[in-house]
Amino acid sequence: MSSYEPIDESFPVAYLRDITQIFPGRLGRQTVALNSVTLTIHRGEVLAIVGESGSGKSTLGLVAAGLLKPSAGDVQLGGGSLTYTHKNLKTHHRKVQLILQNPFTSLNPVHTVLHHLARPLKLHHGMRNPHEIRLRASELLDGVGLVPSDEYLDKYAHQLSGGQRQRVGIARALATQPKLIVADEPTSMLDVSLRLDMLNLLLNLRNQHGTSFLFITHDLASAYYVADTIAVLFRGNLVERGSATQIVMQPKHPYTQLLLQAITDVVPENTGDTITTEATPTGGCSFRLRCPMRYERCDSEPPKLQRMADGIDVSCHYVESREGHADEL
Ligand SMILES: Nc1ncnc2c1ncn2[C@@H]1O[C@H](COP(=O)(O)OP(=O)(O)O)[C@@H](O)[C@H]1O
Ligand code: SF4
Ligand SMILES: [Mg+2]
Repeated sequence: MSSYEPIDESFPVAYLRDITQIFPGRLGRQTVALNSVTLTIHRGEVLAIVGESGSGKSTLGLVAAGLLKPSAGDVQLGGGSLTYTHKNLKTHHRKVQLILQNPFTSLNPVHTVLHHLARPLKLHHGMRNPHEIRLRASELLDGVGLVPSDEYLDKYAHQLSGGQRQRVGIARALATQPKLIVADEPTSMLDVSLRLDMLNLLLNLRNQHGTSFLFITHDLASAYYVADTIAVLFRGNLVERGSATQIVMQPKHPYTQLLLQAITDVVPENTGDTITTEATPTGGCSFRLRCPMRYERCDSEPPKLQRMADGIDVSCHYVESREGHADEL
């Protein structure tokens, strides 16, 4: 929905191919947090990953940031595959930065703002001169709206509000001049009044620097506000992907329709963060226990992601049978 002209479709910044993540669980049970998820993020694109709690959003963010090696699949940035050697990871961490949801734990209370910003400047850009580091740190704070920046450099985390801490977190992420920022629910712990400011800040940064964002949220409304493209995850499966406008105005997958209904229904405090308790069905479609459109085929055959005639990717037998003309991805 944010629509940014310079998105270059021919220039993928990151390519996540067939990512599967299986976590060992108790009593020998395994959790399939991600099931063969493939996504491309282009230069200057804000791609929102939407889904309820437990759908694998944070796991995907960690994999994209090179902080978790997937059980299977390939993470590519600028062409080459991530090999997880020390040197290769260092380069990856410079190019892909992660902003976490909790601004209260993301900064070390014993260090000043300057210390937090100086670290990536020294580590990734080899800066040594304290005067130059302070100047660059100051510029970074200006860039995220913490002005006058000099006043903030010598403060400690407890002297800052949640919104200010989150801005320091973003300035720290920008210090490495990343190509991609993974922002995992960056506004969910902020006061409602600050959320829009934060989303606008991320959009400004994208517009100024052409940075791509993987914006993780359980809230379809924020995704619509900030993203160019939305990918919907359900239980580790990518069920729908398309432009933010397509996904919100004409959702095809029954789960996306349900998510949309949750934001349009009048609910007193709608977090969208529903935790479902039903068992994960094996075989067939993973959404079938909640799906109003379910029919026999859904019980025996898992649907595959297909490209529809209008360019939306959907994984659903019902949609496929209704719309036809689909290309398997
Ligand atoms: N380190 C881990 N060990 C075991 N299970 C995990 C781990 N991290 C996540 N999971 C499980 O993987 C699934 C997806 O988790 P997560 O990626 O955190 O989802 P989301 O961010 O969408 O809430 C959940 O069932 C969660 O319990
Ligand atoms: S494949 Fe079947 S159960 Fe799954 S979302 Fe589509 S209609 Fe519903
Ligand atoms: Mg999460």
